[in-house]
Amino acid sequence: MKIFLDTANIAEIRRLNELGIVDGVTTNPSWVSKENRASREGKEGREGKGKTFKEIVQEICKEVKGPVSAEATATEASAMIKEAREISGWAKNVVVKLPTTAEGLKALKAVSEEGIKTNMTLVFSANQALLVGKLNATYVSPFIGRLYDAGYDGMQLIKDVVAIYRNYKFRTQILAASFREPREVAEAAIAGADVATIKPEFVDQMLKNPFTDAGLKAFLDSWATMAKK
Ligand code: G3P
Repeated sequence: MKIFLDTANIAEIRRLNELGIVDGVTTNPSWVSKENRASREGKEGREGKGKTFKEIVQEICKEVKGPVSAEATATEASAMIKEAREISGWAKNVVVKLPTTAEGLKALKAVSEEGIKTNMTLVFSANQALLVGKLNATYVSPFIGRLYDAGYDGMQLIKDVVAIYRNYKFRTQILAASFREPREVAEAAIAGADVATIKPEFVDQMLKNPFTDAGLKAFLDSWATMAKK
């Protein structure tokens, strides 16, 4: 399973990219505006306005070799198509995120035919994912955590989408998103998701295990008692 980082924070992307486990990045308007705010406060960027959306996306695209999702914010298909064309020109590895609405589907069909890579976002039902798969999007993003927040079984959505896509051999990759707990990453992998996009701190939590630390300490303590030449 591929691991994407769900963030626009370049420092965190750089830190974890060194581990060699980052296959790509997903951003959304909330992550990008947070990064813009941080760059304004850090007095970086242009004329005190902070880094622009384009600058943030291009910086991430340079840092990671894999796909980087950047979200179109238009709500009407023709404007989305225009935006998608512009965003896709920013870097070779950029993927355009579109909302899973009727207008989003129209835009998906048009931009896919032009070879633009897409990530259909804000998916909360198997039926929405089915429509996205029919139109051959590059990625579909079911949001697990927001379903859990509302009292639904978020992981069941991943299982349902995996079953549908297998039945019909859809090529769209299932990009599980909106995780609440690190253990859900393994659950999504068991369910057969192609990608999990996770907050940077999840990587640290996934890696850290007290048994590993205690086991390593015991081995090193034993090793220290060995005769050295
Ligand atoms: O970027 C999409 C998704 O991962 C956002 O998650 O935590 O806002 O539900 P969240």
